[in-house]
Amino acid sequence: MLYPAGVRAAVIPAIAALCGALASVASAESLQPSGWDRGVALAVAPDLNPDPHVVEVNIDARVAAVEIAPGERVDAWTYNGGIPGPLIRVRVGDRLVVHFSNHLPEPTTMHWHGIRVPIQMDGVPDVSQPPVPTGGTFTYDFVVPDAGLYWYHPHVMSAAQVGFGLYGALLVEDPNDPVAVSDQTVLVLSDIALDGKGGFEPPDSGGTTGMAFGREGNHLLVNGRERPRLVARAGAPQRWRVVNAAKSRFFQLELEGQPFTRIGGDGGLLEYPVQLEALVLAPGERADVIVAPTGAPGSDIVVRAYPFNRGFGSVEYRSVEDLMTVSIAEAAPHTGAPPPATKRTIEPTSTDGATNVAIEFTMGQRENGAFEYGINGVPFAKNHPVTARPGETQIWTITNKTKWSHPFHLHGFFFQVLDDKGRPVHPLEWKDTVNVPFDQTVRLVVHYDDRPGSWMFHCHVLDHADGGLMGMLDLGLPSSTHSGHSLHQGQ
Ligand code: C2O
Ligand code: CU
Repeated sequence: MLYPAGVRAAVIPAIAALCGALASVASAESLQPSGWDRGVALAVAPDLNPDPHVVEVNIDARVAAVEIAPGERVDAWTYNGGIPGPLIRVRVGDRLVVHFSNHLPEPTTMHWHGIRVPIQMDGVPDVSQPPVPTGGTFTYDFVVPDAGLYWYHPHVMSAAQVGFGLYGALLVEDPNDPVAVSDQTVLVLSDIALDGKGGFEPPDSGGTTGMAFGREGNHLLVNGRERPRLVARAGAPQRWRVVNAAKSRFFQLELEGQPFTRIGGDGGLLEYPVQLEALVLAPGERADVIVAPTGAPGSDIVVRAYPFNRGFGSVEYRSVEDLMTVSIAEAAPHTGAPPPATKRTIEPTSTDGATNVAIEFTMGQRENGAFEYGINGVPFAKNHPVTARPGETQIWTITNKTKWSHPFHLHGFFFQVLDDKGRPVHPLEWKDTVNVPFDQTVRLVVHYDDRPGSWMFHCHVLDHADGGLMGMLDLGLPSSTHSGHSLHQGQ
């Protein structure tokens, strides 16, 4: 403004230090140029309810033309007309009411990935609710118990429906959030498989071989846009809340060698932050990261997606892809101290008296040669549920006997990951999705509260789930009530 550059550089840290001190009182002022995240910002679902503790939104699933890059349009399956669907924002402890209507040509549901909902709200067709037919409606209504970034997607033919564009983010904020970074944006990563003729690749392309691998899209998207642009003031921290909503693709991100400080994961903040040069997210996982991009004013740095080895044929002939541009603003660099490390007390889940569950991810072939995934050799349609009682703690040992990695996701409950000696992995964090790499074993501990029902677990490579890599956890149900799950093909 009126100050020469040198004076401005000296004054700004002083102001920033002051803002830092006030951060716990009021949310600190932005350190970024105005409109810094305009190139990516998601539409927010308007809250129709004046009660400050109730968020009420309308979500309409419908086919709509979307433009993922200039001139690149496709008739997608959308929530409220966009890819991704609108950002739903609530505060921890709020009641969320979603008036859902289905104007798609097929039945669908909404699943609230990672939220500890009652079973009736879990969105699994014929288990927690009937599928919502074309023209039908359903009201999702639940309290949101944990802060963090979550997401929503259908649970009917999920590989196809997510692949056509049905996913969105749900941000649960904590009014006492300790993170002293005022500039925050939500980034939904995904990909989409276009045929170059204005339509989608068929969701069954490549037959069961395509299923066995997991079909990836050919356009990488951040908040539904190809290579969008974010503006950054050099050195000023930004908080990115990231979810991998792709149906098969793992994202391995790098920021031209600049670090990511990971402060949170699936279920809110970590025990303590970790610094990363590459941020890896399996499908379904979330990350809460702080970045402070630096560079010459007016220059660009690029967030790139590196091929990630998720098994046979996943890195050969793959190239690095540009995902998002970060343009360094012409403003004076920020020189304040980095935000203090956030700490969170997380109790390790006690394994005393825990029961053991051992499962194997397997692949077989039917008589006709078609590939089929299974749990302990049995595909979903025929497998028996894992059973548990409310109040029980279980240690799951998950061994992957296949050639591809599988992000294991459990509905309804958080777990903690254990090392191979059964000790908790630090920093402690609450997870609902964890990658089980090919040829490896992952252990986790889960304690069940009192929400009886049939809870699903599955690989979040959705082609794999539809190809048999799913199972059921029956919590607090008399075993005789279990009727098998030869329900809808491809939940
Ligand atoms: Cu996001 Cu059944 O999952
Ligand atoms: Cu898988």
